[in-house]
Amino acid sequence: MRALLVDHSAPSGLRLGETTDPEPAHNQALIRVTATSLNFGEVSHAVSQAPDGTVLGWDAVGVVERAAADGSGPAAGTPVLTLGESGGWAELRAVDTQLLGSAPADTDPGALSTLPVTGTSALRALRRIGSLTGKRVLITGSTGGVGRYAVQLAHLGGAHVIASTGAPDAHGDSLRALGADEVIPGPEHTGALVDAVVDCVGGPQLVQAFEKLAPHGTLVAVGDVTLQPVQFPPGAFLGDGGRHGRSIVTFHLQDGPLPGPDLTWLADRIASADLTPQISWRGSWNQVDEAITALMGRRLHGKAVLDITP
Ligand SMILES: NC(=O)c1ccc[n+]([C@@H]2O[C@H](COP(=O)([O-])OP(=O)(O)OC[C@H]3O[C@@H](n4cnc5c(N)ncnc54)[C@H](OP(=O)(O)O)[C@@H]3O)[C@@H](O)[C@H]2O)c1
Repeated sequence: MRALLVDHSAPSGLRLGETTDPEPAHNQALIRVTATSLNFGEVSHAVSQAPDGTVLGWDAVGVVERAAADGSGPAAGTPVLTLGESGGWAELRAVDTQLLGSAPADTDPGALSTLPVTGTSALRALRRIGSLTGKRVLITGSTGGVGRYAVQLAHLGGAHVIASTGAPDAHGDSLRALGADEVIPGPEHTGALVDAVVDCVGGPQLVQAFEKLAPHGTLVAVGDVTLQPVQFPPGAFLGDGGRHGRSIVTFHLQDGPLPGPDLTWLADRIASADLTPQISWRGSWNQVDEAITALMGRRLHGKAVLDITP
């Protein structure tokens, strides 16, 4: 099969090449992949750390080519979404059937391919906050893949959504269209305190966002795109002035139940147009260098989708 192989001599660290087909385990279905999307973490870290020839890729959407030998999971021919730690950037992917979600019929595979990492992360980070109804929720890095789904899902959940972006003039309209009630240039601009934060940026923005938490508020630390130190000022954790009970929780996408039901639920929301995929770059996987340059140059502000073309 063809796949995007790690190749540290290539400009993006990836090249399209031939490799051996995956051999599914008993509990794995073999998927013929039609679309994948790129995520900040795999492009910025995983590619540089993997040996040449590795097939990476977390998100992949396609059709079951061969059902799992143990009888679990969908039958051949079923459209599915998949989430895994590797193997998504390939024509064929072997996936545990418990990691599959059902793809609604007649839904664009490229749109669905934006969901596995970013949609599931946004959903699970917001769940960590609890009920959203009427809460003031700040989302940092709101123009990114996770951020744009977090804005939409928090709005659907009834929150007052405050979207933080480094470029509010450029992205204000699109974020408001997704359900943001306010668009601000950084966490220090929230005005009144917030009940919860989904932080997709880390570094100084995490510190500023924590400063804006109301008593008993929760900051969910999802991302760290800046890789800058997190330095709290003296007294940041004192509960004086009524500002007690605030917490920061670390987050990991795979902490929790297996993602199949969440993938299916999110895919249904795309099919019903309650969520929009926010694709900001789309092309054939043989244009992967272009997509990665845009992603790492901070020019995407949404998802890059690669179609697995012949
Ligand atoms: N813990 C987990 O399980 C988990 C799961 C998924 C993702 N993540 C992490 O969450 C973070 C966000 O992921 P993503 O896919 O949404 O990334 P993304 O699409 O690249 O978006 C990141 C956003 O952060 C903002 N930003 C602010 N400072 C930045 C900087 N110095 N460099 C780049 N962007 C900067 C940008 O918005 P503006 O330019 O508008 O400010 C950008 O849109 C990443 O760190 C990722 O690894 C973690």
